[in-house]
Amino acid sequence: MHIRDANADDALAIATISVEGWRRAYRGIIDDAVLDGRSIEKSRQHWGEWIQDLKRRGDRISVADDGMGRVVGFASYGANRDAENGFGAELYAIYVIPGRLGQGIGTLLMREMARWLEAHAYEDVVVWCLKANPSCAFYERHGARQVAERTIEVGSQVLDELGYGWHALAPLKEG
Ligand SMILES: CC(C)(COP(=O)(O)OP(=O)(O)OC[C@H]1O[C@@H](n2cnc3c(N)ncnc32)[C@H](O)[C@@H]1OP(=O)(O)O)[C@@H](O)C(=O)NCCC(=O)NCCS
Repeated sequence: MHIRDANADDALAIATISVEGWRRAYRGIIDDAVLDGRSIEKSRQHWGEWIQDLKRRGDRISVADDGMGRVVGFASYGANRDAENGFGAELYAIYVIPGRLGQGIGTLLMREMARWLEAHAYEDVVVWCLKANPSCAFYERHGARQVAERTIEVGSQVLDELGYGWHALAPLKEG
């Protein structure tokens, strides 16, 4: 397994992981119609543009490559989009393919994120997670503390989100 910078050719793999991961993570939390309404093809276009946008802005999207050319996870991160909470960097999204959960791939992606953020002069990082998402425990396991709360609209639902923050990157680099 190695972690590398994503390129435009990864858009389909990233879209597949995000759509499948999203449906799996949010079934029972987000309405089925919203979950099932998101297509891989539409998502591929979105990710293709997002990969270019991230690079233009100097932010980053990393993929976990299983060594046989198969992308099994990704993480995107960079400048915080909500300066109000005081954190310099933000983890925008992290997903591991459903068949490879719990094998340390998410941890490898977090480690690479911490290294990259530190190399780009960031000192801290925040991530937003739906309160009902069991993956909040992944962030807690990596030493994050709950630092903020907000609501977001998803389709016709209003859902609670928790902000998890790391005030230092060093512990994350060790994973
Ligand atoms: C969150 C996610 C990326 C973690 O990736 P992963 O490769 O499964 O995580 P790891 O194997 O590196 O796990 C590291 C630790 O976190 C714990 N952990 C990971 N996911 C967890 C979960 N959903 N619930 C509870 N604990 C979890 C693991 O048990 C492990 O702890 P351990 O070292 O004590 O055994 C993955 O679960 C995922 O893709 N979730 C769905 C998408 C999602 O919700 N993303 C976050 C959006 S905010």
